[in-house]
Amino acid sequence: MSIIGKDIQEAKRLLERGDLVAIPTETVYGLAGNALDGNTVTKIFSVKERPFFDPLIVHVPDLKSVDKWVTHIPAKAKKLAEAFWPGPLTLLLPRKSVIPDIVTAGLETVGIRCPKNEVTQQLLRSIDFPLAAPSANPFGYVSPTNPHHVNEQLGNKINYIVDGGECQVGIESTIVGFENDSPVVFRLGGLSIEDIERVAGKVDIQLNSSSNPKAPGQLRSHYAPRKKLLVGSLTELLSHYGNQVSVVAYKNPLREVELSNQRILSPKGKLEEAAQNLFSALRELDKLAPPIIIAEEVPNVGIGRAINDRLYRAAAQEGNRQ
Ligand code: TXA
Ligand code: MG
Repeated sequence: MSIIGKDIQEAKRLLERGDLVAIPTETVYGLAGNALDGNTVTKIFSVKERPFFDPLIVHVPDLKSVDKWVTHIPAKAKKLAEAFWPGPLTLLLPRKSVIPDIVTAGLETVGIRCPKNEVTQQLLRSIDFPLAAPSANPFGYVSPTNPHHVNEQLGNKINYIVDGGECQVGIESTIVGFENDSPVVFRLGGLSIEDIERVAGKVDIQLNSSSNPKAPGQLRSHYAPRKKLLVGSLTELLSHYGNQVSVVAYKNPLREVELSNQRILSPKGKLEEAAQNLFSALRELDKLAPPIIIAEEVPNVGIGRAINDRLYRAAAQEGNRQ
């Protein structure tokens, strides 16, 4: 099992010698290593069992440091970074050659993100390289939102998990690229489209599937629990599957199902709270007896769009398509 602690010096020491360390961010925990060192980055792919065609996000302490890693920052990218960094926004920018090919899967852009977490900020400021960090889960599984989630799945493969408690946002960053300097959203996430449009004007949304090379990691089947997950009207799903189910509800539990088999994302109906609880809920229900998880959509506005996106991707497991 990994050590879970707050010793930034220890995390720094491990990272400087080329080891991997799990780090907290406001979105989900990341599996971090020196982004400039190809050998370290190779370890990230092998620990996660991630295919090499799926590029990694590079984490930086601030906007100032980005010039070292990219050749150009479009005006709207700068505006977005100034408005939302540190925060749940990843920008795809043209990379300099110091960023190894393996980080970007050979693409000419690199995903750059400045996370909002005090401990991780201190760590990033204490080292002289950026951190490549995908979510700290085995490829295709639900992302971790606390250090214990990481320990359960990767504890036998890494030595140290930096403890930042529960993630505040709970869903991965929104990924924004640029076509002719105008913004395109490739992954819905913790920063809402409404917020982005307020700062950068109308954006194009291209939610990619496995066949779109621009965001190769956006496979339809992703973020998935091991159990079969079905998304739709809870009462209809219940009438089909009866008492074999556990439930992810937005605000209200179902009367027909034992409460211990239900997770209510936000009893007050707050989408931010629902996002924060989503991945923990899926993990917990994955461990219970009922073989099927049923879930309902949340209102499709703000961060609710990202929640629905994750639910549908999680439901798209092999052999589980509806
Ligand atoms: O919130 C987050 O973004 C978390 C935390 C740890 O920062 N990280 C995260 O990383 O979600 P990961 O590797 O699980 O997802 C990164 C996604 C992948 O789907 C990948 O394909 C896409 O970002 N990506 C990274 N670089 C890219 C690039 N240059 N072009 C297109 N897509 C890129
Ligand atoms: Mg991931």
